[in-house]
Amino acid sequence: MLNIQSYVSLKPYNTFGIDVSARYWVDVTNENDLQTLLHLTEFIDTPKLIIGAGSNILFRHNFDGLVIKMNIQGVSVLREDDTHVYIKAGAGVNWHELVQFCVNQEFAGMENLSLIPGTVGAAPMQNIGAYGVELEQIFESLTATHIRTGETRTFLHADCDFGYRESVFKKSLKGQYIITGVTFQLDKVPTFHTRYGAIQETLTEMGVAEHNLSIKDISEAVIRIRRSKLPDPAQIGNAGSFFKNPEISRAKFDTLLSQYPNLPGYPIGENVVKVPAGWLIEQAGWKGYRSGDVGVHARQALVLVNYGNGRGDEILNLAKEIQLSVLNKFGIEITPEVNVI
Ligand code: EPU
Repeated sequence: MLNIQSYVSLKPYNTFGIDVSARYWVDVTNENDLQTLLHLTEFIDTPKLIIGAGSNILFRHNFDGLVIKMNIQGVSVLREDDTHVYIKAGAGVNWHELVQFCVNQEFAGMENLSLIPGTVGAAPMQNIGAYGVELEQIFESLTATHIRTGETRTFLHADCDFGYRESVFKKSLKGQYIITGVTFQLDKVPTFHTRYGAIQETLTEMGVAEHNLSIKDISEAVIRIRRSKLPDPAQIGNAGSFFKNPEISRAKFDTLLSQYPNLPGYPIGENVVKVPAGWLIEQAGWKGYRSGDVGVHARQALVLVNYGNGRGDEILNLAKEIQLSVLNKFGIEITPEVNVI
């Protein structure tokens, strides 16, 4: 049953904990209700905002339209063959619960993506990634509904135009489709991704020997690393990485390296190097900065935080100051990864 409410506070529905409201609000738990909703004549021209867990959104002001919280649940094993298992999950399924389900069933491929806040439906939007794995590596297909026509469509991998924190849903199809469910292709025999960052080190600390390694160990290691540097949104408002890691030319990287010999960089193809924005922001002096109730996390400079009553425009102004100071110091433009509404 659809229950469209008026003037609903969005504070519990965005992990930044920004206190704004939605003119209209509805929680959608199944595809029939979504169809009904999209065909209600009184809402056809109302601006719509689709949210999952609200973990990648910064609200600057009240939303004068209809917020649709996608809450379609359900996880099922669709089919399997000799090497793969295909799992379908509803858009509203909590991402980490799905990861835990797969890890427990020994379906491999998602373990490096443990503890990422958010929902299944939001995951392909920005091709979530962490610790050497991106969603697109385990993505099979998704179903989505067109916001204006209600037409439902299946998108295969090639249709999604995935990139680093990018997909077709943030580019040419932005604002057009609502993702209702995602199917993942997982491996029966795991390929372990342990080379990124502190994973190997953490596994050693955990006392896990290489010949005994399991996807559960990797999941546990990722959880430990994330807990050690990323603030828990239930305690301190944040949306994970606020900026994307910028990609610069090899020539520019080499010039900067002569000035900053510790500059980290990961080659992307021959002439492009990805540089961690967290490092740039830290070097520009922002790590641990606080002004009123907004600031930069003390253990990961890429994360902006709301200590309580911070407003969206305060966070955005801070973000702009950071962008400017990184540009002045390094000549590198960093852009938000978070959706600013
Ligand atoms: N670094 C610093 N100072 C900082 C933060 C980072 O010097 O304050 C340096 C680290 O020392 C390291 C490098 O930057 O050399 C990379 O740091 P980290 O491994 O923490 O990852 P990141 O590049 O800052 C990205 C993702 C995260 C993801 C991690 C792990 C983006 C925008 N962010 O962060 O994703 O969890 O890698 O894979 O790509 C998110 O998208 O919300 C998110 C948290």
